[in-house]
Amino acid sequence: MAHFPATPSAAAATGHRVSPSPRSSASLPRRTTLLPSIGAAGGPPSRSWRGAAAAVRAATGSDNKAASAGTIINPNDVPVLSFSEVAERLGTFQASGARNQNYMAMYSSIFGGITTDPSAMVIPIDDHMVHRGHGVFDTAAIMDGHLYELEQHLDRFLRSALMAKIPLPFGRSTMRSMLIQTVSVSNCTQGSLRYWLSVGPGDFQLSSSGCANPALYAVVIESPSIQVPSGCKVVTSSIPIKSSHFAVMKSVNYLPNALTKFEGEENGAFTGIWLDDEGFVAEGSNMNVGFVTAGKELLMPRFDKILSGCTAKRVLTLAEQLVADGRLSRIISRNVSVQEGKAADEMMLIGSGILVKPVVQWDDQIIGSGQEGPIAQALYDLILEDMRSGPPSVRIPVPY
Ligand SMILES: Cc1ncc(COP(=O)(O)O)c(C=O)c1O
Repeated sequence: MAHFPATPSAAAATGHRVSPSPRSSASLPRRTTLLPSIGAAGGPPSRSWRGAAAAVRAATGSDNKAASAGTIINPNDVPVLSFSEVAERLGTFQASGARNQNYMAMYSSIFGGITTDPSAMVIPIDDHMVHRGHGVFDTAAIMDGHLYELEQHLDRFLRSALMAKIPLPFGRSTMRSMLIQTVSVSNCTQGSLRYWLSVGPGDFQLSSSGCANPALYAVVIESPSIQVPSGCKVVTSSIPIKSSHFAVMKSVNYLPNALTKFEGEENGAFTGIWLDDEGFVAEGSNMNVGFVTAGKELLMPRFDKILSGCTAKRVLTLAEQLVADGRLSRIISRNVSVQEGKAADEMMLIGSGILVKPVVQWDDQIIGSGQEGPIAQALYDLILEDMRSGPPSVRIPVPY
């Protein structure tokens, strides 16, 4: 059986090509317990997952340990721990239920393999992705045992890495194979795959010249539930939008995005909407925006100053069917003013976490009838159908 080299440098040093052949099920423990529903877009923790965590606590009697692991009782008596004691406490932290999502597997080029133990899903603190934000990431949904639009997300991932000057630790096909193997080992058939490329660990400088090896990390997150597309409110964000150079790449610098989401939620909305430097509609915190005009056009801002959403691009293709059957008159990408957006018949948020989510209110303005619109619903149905039974160009079967 071929193994991953311990690190990318090991691969390079030995002149060994990384062979991403399938691993035998005997080589890694498989997690078979399916935990209940967790919202894909990072919604509030489901009661059932909290319940499961409570059951783990009850079973392990770890409440006290969890408390002592997380709380310094005596500030002058911080324990000094061995590696195995740290590992034990990481296990206690995991069992405490402090996490509200179910992490099924992680690949790390640091340890050159896959783990299914969430306690071990850690990255080095001197990784420049952690302390300098020098990393990029992307995702892919896992639906019915298939990876949706992995190639499209990988294309963007590699474009982002190029822009962020992150050398690739492995070739594209090797990374693709490692990602698929990570999902396979996870046994997860519904959820998402998240992956990062970092300039790597090495020191705490700003320059990446001391980072010997770029790093690849990937995590599989289980999320069996499919979001029902209920109408939501959005607010215009007061957080400055990233300049186009940074907005078009998917780097880990998501503080503006997190604050835009925070501001939206603080104002009783689902998220915030950014305007660009000319005052035109740009995008949401982690989703694109679309409109249906009174003339039944599907209208989207161009992708030149914002992230080119894989979901939005697929929606633009699938929407051709609605043009063909007369529900839409045409599909167009151009500048959209706030006035035009607020006067639209329909507005929607589009992204891989939410698919297509209707917007029924933007700031104080009710959009259209104030109800979820028929085009948003039709586009949601189309993308869901595409995830379940679309062509091989968007669906890669996972060999479990
Ligand atoms: C800023 C931003 N815009 C748009 C999107 C939508 O992209 P995708 O459909 O590929 O998820 C995302 C997704 O994370 C994002 O972060």
